[in-house]
Amino acid sequence: MESFDETNITASVLDRFQATPDPRLAQILSSIVRHLHACTREIEPTFEEWMAAIQFLTRTGQISVGGRQEFILLSDTLGLSMLIDAINNRLPPQATQTTVLGPFYLPDQPVLAHGVDLAAGAQGTPLYVDVQFQSVGGKPLADVTVDVWQSDHEGFYDVQRSDLEHTRLRGRFLSDGNGRLRFWTIMPTAYPIPYDGPVGDMLKATNRSPWRPAHLHFMARAPAYRPLITHIFVAGDKYLRADPVFGVKASLIDDFPEQAAGVAPDGRRLTGPWRKLEFEFRLQAEDRA
Ligand code: BEZ
Ligand code: FE
Repeated sequence: MESFDETNITASVLDRFQATPDPRLAQILSSIVRHLHACTREIEPTFEEWMAAIQFLTRTGQISVGGRQEFILLSDTLGLSMLIDAINNRLPPQATQTTVLGPFYLPDQPVLAHGVDLAAGAQGTPLYVDVQFQSVGGKPLADVTVDVWQSDHEGFYDVQRSDLEHTRLRGRFLSDGNGRLRFWTIMPTAYPIPYDGPVGDMLKATNRSPWRPAHLHFMARAPAYRPLITHIFVAGDKYLRADPVFGVKASLIDDFPEQAAGVAPDGRRLTGPWRKLEFEFRLQAEDRA
């Protein structure tokens, strides 16, 4: 009869997975066991600490109902989402860099006409977006499906507001024959990630800020190209260096230059200052392997 102790428990557990028919599952499980046991040996948790961890994970599951996905938020705030994103997006330097999707994306949005104003009554500094979608070689890409979504002037996404009956500050477009897309919106603002749950408790206990720097989300998809999920961040935002989900990349920061009152490129007359975002998104072709 085998007796398990500190010296042989890891090998014994690994041995039990020997008969796993799926080699990838066997690799994943044995790696998890090896690392879990190694970190347990390093930490030497008390029973109370082990139970606190179990309760933390239990609350993480319990709060994950409806649109709330606390495990993804945990993955985001531990840097795991960005590590997985980096491993799966080893792109050439010319390609636009990727970042986290976040919880506020909505699929299946109707396609809107260029030039619309996504603000739909939301307050804020007007922003004219004039962007182009290209291949990494610089070829303009027509008919790219582009999803855009952002926070409002108070730092909320439409899906967080119970007072709204329609979507706001989000839209789906198709790039034109020259790969271009132009629309109006307002400047996005910084906002805290949801911190009324266990992830928020973790941030508070570790003196970490829940505030994400202001950004506009873009998802671009075109046949034969890798999907691009990214943000464009606003230069100068005070949270750029402390993003709780580690999503900021220098190449994704733009000045959104301020423009004086007057007539915008599309003929719109503005009585106060407004901002402009011009950006070239470069998509990497799909691997043909
Ligand atoms: C966001 O940018 O919408 C987001 C990303 C990760 C966690 C929470 C929010
Ligand atoms: Fe966001």
